[in-house]
Amino acid sequence: MQIEPFALERWMTRWELLVTHDICESGIKPLSLGDVMGLIPASEAAVLEQRIHETPLGYSEARGTEDLRSVLATTYANTSSDDILITTGAIEANYLLFNVLLKAGDHVVVVDPAYQQLASVPKAIGCQVDHLSVVHSDGYYYDLDELRGMVRPDTRMIVINTPHNPTGCMLSASDLNEIVELARENDCWILCDEAYRWIEHPGGMSIPGPMRGRYEKGISVGTVSKPFGVPGLRIGWFAAPAEIAQAAWGIRDYVSLSPAKLSDLIATAVIRNREAIFARNSEIIAANLVTANQWFTDNADIVSWQAPKAGLLAMMRYAADLDSSVVADRLAGEVGVMLAPGDAFGMPGTLRIGVGQDPRIFREGLEMTAQFLRSIR
Ligand SMILES: Cc1ncc(COP(=O)(O)O)c(C=O)c1O
Repeated sequence: MQIEPFALERWMTRWELLVTHDICESGIKPLSLGDVMGLIPASEAAVLEQRIHETPLGYSEARGTEDLRSVLATTYANTSSDDILITTGAIEANYLLFNVLLKAGDHVVVVDPAYQQLASVPKAIGCQVDHLSVVHSDGYYYDLDELRGMVRPDTRMIVINTPHNPTGCMLSASDLNEIVELARENDCWILCDEAYRWIEHPGGMSIPGPMRGRYEKGISVGTVSKPFGVPGLRIGWFAAPAEIAQAAWGIRDYVSLSPAKLSDLIATAVIRNREAIFARNSEIIAANLVTANQWFTDNADIVSWQAPKAGLLAMMRYAADLDSSVVADRLAGEVGVMLAPGDAFGMPGTLRIGVGQDPRIFREGLEMTAQFLRSIR
């Protein structure tokens, strides 16, 4: 397979161990195992700790344990544990789904910009990829009329992501239903990357229910990486018709075989106790949004943004006549602040910011960024 380099991943790995203030991360501030134990009820923490010590470290159930698949199944309408496949992050879920459902020559419509995998893997398979831009002169949003003009009777799949990485825009329940109608008319699949499901903002928009359950060919992809702050567990999943889960499992036999056993165990406890983790997320996000809103107001002559209403990401526009890849490299190398270059998303003049990090790091990182941007004006 010929596949283009994953621009943002390469940029992040170049800088992430060198900077002091990473304020573009796509996840919420990560939890340690000790943090997890402190957030879940004491009786469950005691059982989890014992199981971590006593579980033989053999291979795990290939599809993910029944415990984990069934707790996830309860979060989707009309879904059983056989419709869920546990994967090595949402990234493997997407990869398997593209390989099960697409072949060379298929027509696919993909949101743009996107978490790069969502366009690059269909391209590498040899699909004809059309890009549905969410970047407009009056803001970031999905234009469903434009989508209607792109979907054809031979379209095989529509790929969306909501809340969206990197712009933070999102689809409402009625938008999702309109996309379902369009897909149904053309008998095509919808892959909805819901990596940012469950990340709501105090005073923001509520995230509509998942794609799975709205449409027989609607697939939801999820992960513990973003809403649960445990990306190091590398646990993701998808919810789809059982035959798709079976077919993806068939490919997975050649890729990662089974989820990591302890990760499956910890993810199950984390998902069962999700409300406690979401309360912790809300505190971080609320603090960072206050900081960000004040910072954008104080520095309105050099930066602007469309504040996200859910999820963790947004793009900031800066006033300097320098490419974003140069600004991002200089910020990381000279100042120690990581803001991802919009160039990696085809969005010149912008930097990606994440509102899920430690509030002190976030505040200091923004102050350092303003100083730097003023120095290069
Ligand atoms: C939209 C989107 N999908 C998938 C992923 C992959 O996440 P995971 O850590 O679950 O593999 C990411 C990670 O940033 C993402 O932003």
